[in-house]
Amino acid sequence: MSALEPNASRQELARLEAAVDQRGSAGARGLDGGYVGSNLAVVDRALARIRDEDLARGPLFCEWGSGLGGVCAVAALNGFSPLGIEIQAELVDSARSLALDLDLPMSFAHGTFLLPGDEDLATGTDHTRLSFDGLAWDALDLAPGDCDVVFAYPWPGEEACVDRVFARHASDGALLVTFHDWDYLLVQRKDSGETELASLGWM
Ligand SMILES: C[S@@+](CC[C@H](N)C(=O)[O-])C[C@H]1O[C@@H](n2cnc3c(N)ncnc32)[C@H](O)[C@@H]1O
Repeated sequence: MSALEPNASRQELARLEAAVDQRGSAGARGLDGGYVGSNLAVVDRALARIRDEDLARGPLFCEWGSGLGGVCAVAALNGFSPLGIEIQAELVDSARSLALDLDLPMSFAHGTFLLPGDEDLATGTDHTRLSFDGLAWDALDLAPGDCDVVFAYPWPGEEACVDRVFARHASDGALLVTFHDWDYLLVQRKDSGETELASLGWM
């Protein structure tokens, strides 16, 4: 990557966390199953490291299940170009208002990140919504293979589903960054000719 801005300052991150918390408490009652988001300070730490160590082949960042938009906001503050796909319409509205209020360059589409034909990969999932179409991708004018970095927060037990979908659709050199309950991010990369994702470690 090149021409990246510095990672989020403490002040920017605190402002972002407050804006996300406020939206979360305002909307939580109306959301299916409540809302659980990533720890944004942890995401900032990892994205700054990915950027500083030049681990991403480019800046295009796509979040699968972008929720309130906090992770995309951290990505924007770290110089990535974030796009989010989210299946709950209320969350898409909220993420768009976050982008406007904080004047951050990020866009969100309503719909599923799962594509037609992924039915075989999405087994054993309780929280990931099983609908399959390319409408959100079309709305973003994006193909999965365009993404340099994919971010997801899979529920416990659904990690393998996210890995499989990424392995099928990502192009060589793309990174998969996943948030896990114990406040660490796992960074994996799709390498040419390999069926397994290469682990770049926990950050
Ligand atoms: C655990 S939350 C994480 C939110 C955000 N990624 C974060 O880390 O703060 C998972 C999000 O994925 C969304 N989601 C679940 N299945 C989805 C699907 N098939 N396509 C798009 N979004 C989905 C949920 O509505 C929820 O907002």
